Amino acid sequence: MSRDAGRFLRMSYVVASVAGVAFFVMSVALLGIWPGHVLEDETRTMSPEHPLGLTVSEQRGRVIYGREGCAYCHTQQIRYLHADMARFGSPTLAWETRFDYPHLWGTRRIGPDLAREGSTHSEDWHFAHLYAPRTLMADSVMPAYPSLFDGSPDRPRQEARDLVAYLDSLGRARELAGPEGEAHARTACQCPDDEMAQMAFHATALNANPARPRRQGAAPKLAPAGNLGRGQQLYAHNCASCHGARGEADGPGAAALHPRPANLAGHEYTVDRLGYVLWNGVAGTAMQAWRDLPTQDLAALARAVGGFYVAQQQPTVPVDLLDLGARVYKANCAQCHGDAGAGDGSAVGELRITPADFRGARPSVAESLRALRNGVEGTQMAPWTGRLSEAELSAVAYYVRGFYQERP
Ligand code: HEC
Ligand code: HEC
Ligand code: HEC
Repeated sequence: MSRDAGRFLRMSYVVASVAGVAFFVMSVALLGIWPGHVLEDETRTMSPEHPLGLTVSEQRGRVIYGREGCAYCHTQQIRYLHADMARFGSPTLAWETRFDYPHLWGTRRIGPDLAREGSTHSEDWHFAHLYAPRTLMADSVMPAYPSLFDGSPDRPRQEARDLVAYLDSLGRARELAGPEGEAHARTACQCPDDEMAQMAFHATALNANPARPRRQGAAPKLAPAGNLGRGQQLYAHNCASCHGARGEADGPGAAALHPRPANLAGHEYTVDRLGYVLWNGVAGTAMQAWRDLPTQDLAALARAVGGFYVAQQQPTVPVDLLDLGARVYKANCAQCHGDAGAGDGSAVGELRITPADFRGARPSVAESLRALRNGVEGTQMAPWTGRLSEAELSAVAYYVRGFYQERP
């Protein structure tokens, strides 16, 4: 063996250990430090200047979310996949989770993603759902959390309130950043050629959840002759939990909701109205939108709903009673329900829940009187018994039925 080779062999352990250390340092830098920097950089430049943090209650809710293991079944990240974007909306940007430490992104989707849960369901819906998911969703596998309540979904404890406040905050920061926020992020990203990043900006909607109720919106025109059998099947599966098997607003989930589900058996609806309600839901209430159902199915549902109303002989009304009704209506009701009963009076902007639109939904006299006597709990429709006489109540209860337009 030459002297050089001998020396090299003697030194090889030095070479090996130096290479080993160098490799270790390099991997830490490349896999541990550098990506963090890139992410931090991206988060800093793309986030709005003052992204909204969580309130104290929401922070407590976040801890409860972690403690109860919600993240084992729910993710909080919308991926760059067309399926995700169509169902939930715009993919999650890094800055949206900047306060999320330790993160709650989750890895399994046994239930739906919750990254944009805010404004998707109403508070009463959440309480009823957390208390007993199957009262609202017949075949849900989500566990019930009665320990967050004092014995009924109407009596949420602070923990339930905090948790729901947290759920309602999900997706809010991005929503509030608005179009300016999106434009800012797009410019800061400097990535016109990055196809994936561009997907985040060109998704159809920030929150595309098909269940999210909208206050306004066009609706598809439904065929009046939907398939009744199919409609009844869909109804039993999706609607009976709230509206009851015969549409009488007595399903297992009904009692916990404010306002209660509509009494479908006590109303006539135009097909257009049903199309509108099924497409947009009723904002501010537990009635979600059903945009994930194809139009034929919506038509079938409309047919099934129409079948609940039993046309009763409504008493004939003397003309002077109708005159009285018109006067009472103009003086007391038009500012909310609108001059033509369209639910578009001057005060509507102030109301959390839009007043009934009598053109597309005609209550039976009994139903209309019930609303006048008791008010509609959970809305700004107050009882009128103190302010109107019995004669005035009956008169206006008849009167509002006249707005109905079978063929608008
Ligand atoms: C065993 C899995 C599982 C666990 C644990 C779980 N969920 Fe769910 N969750 C589901 C499933 C399945 C659904 C869909 C059916 C339904 O709505 O009940 C769902 C639906 C939801 C929805 C409605 C989402 C939407 O937009 O339709 C919310 C909100 C929700 N869960 C919140 C929670 C919270 C909060 C916790 C923890 C306290 C939790 N879940 C724990 C499985 C789970
Ligand atoms: C989670 C409970 C719940 C489920 C499930 C539900 N609804 Fe509703 N529904 C409501 C509530 C609450 C209202 C609002 C009542 C009000 O505005 O006073 C409502 C209102 C309605 C109305 C009247 C809307 C109007 O203003 O004229 C119709 C029609 C209706 N739902 C049909 C359906 C159909 C069809 C399904 C199934 C595809 C369904 N609902 C599923 C709770 C529910
Ligand atoms: C402050 C605004 C406001 C005023 C004033 C008001 N309403 Fe209402 N009304 C509402 C709201 C909100 C609802 C609930 C809509 C819902 O549940 O989706 C409602 C519901 C109703 C319903 C139930 C509709 C149904 O389909 O079951 C009837 C009937 C009704 N109002 C009649 C009247 C009459 C008659 C007057 C005048 C004496 C009147 N309202 C005054 C806001 C108002």
